[in-house]
Amino acid sequence: MRVDILTLFPEMFEGPFSLSILKRAQTKGHVEIHLHNIRDWAAGKHKNVDDYPFGGGAGMVMMVEPVVKCIEELQSKTFYNEVIYLSPDGELLNQKVANQLSTCQNLLILCGHYKGIDERIRTNFITREISIGDYVLSGGELAAMVLTDAIVRIIPGVLNDETSALSDSYQDNLLSPPVYTRPYDFRGLKAPDILLSGNDKEIAKWKYEQAVERTRERRPGLMEE
Ligand code: ADE
Repeated sequence: MRVDILTLFPEMFEGPFSLSILKRAQTKGHVEIHLHNIRDWAAGKHKNVDDYPFGGGAGMVMMVEPVVKCIEELQSKTFYNEVIYLSPDGELLNQKVANQLSTCQNLLILCGHYKGIDERIRTNFITREISIGDYVLSGGELAAMVLTDAIVRIIPGVLNDETSALSDSYQDNLLSPPVYTRPYDFRGLKAPDILLSGNDKEIAKWKYEQAVERTRERRPGLMEE
């Protein structure tokens, strides 16, 4: 998969993309992530990327020209399955959306900032708008990192143990069962004996029951889906 991210703050991505699973996915060649600074497509001495909104109002708006020039240049070299804009008005990200996007070959992700982006970008160049939750972030960058992580970790081969993504919370509309590790007895708090029984069938049954119980308790709506 190839992911191109358009942002005014490429530096924000350095940490999350250079560690752990996202790093390994890139090193192993499962994903190529390219960051593009929208300012590089801005015109004039000051390389302005934002301007006052027509009709007044608070905040600045990201200008159509640098964003569109950047999108068009990338599209002239690569076909993108989706051109995604991260926005609180978008479709809510969930596991189903992540699963679907993880099957794409090329994704272009646009991060907005300030008061938003000129509407003409959204109506003419964006194919999908995604929100990572019903709250407002300062910009699309953190949302783009969340989205990229959720997509990349489920590309086959990215996780060492292929089954571990399958048993994630949400993959079967169930939350994950509790997990334990050594020591067995921590100050009298013991791990469930069944997990040390060696009986794989009983262990699988226990995990499933725990997942169902936890989902019923915490997120009953998930099971109805
Ligand atoms: N940009 C600002 N808030 C956002 C959100 N909740 N999801 C996606 N992008 C955003």
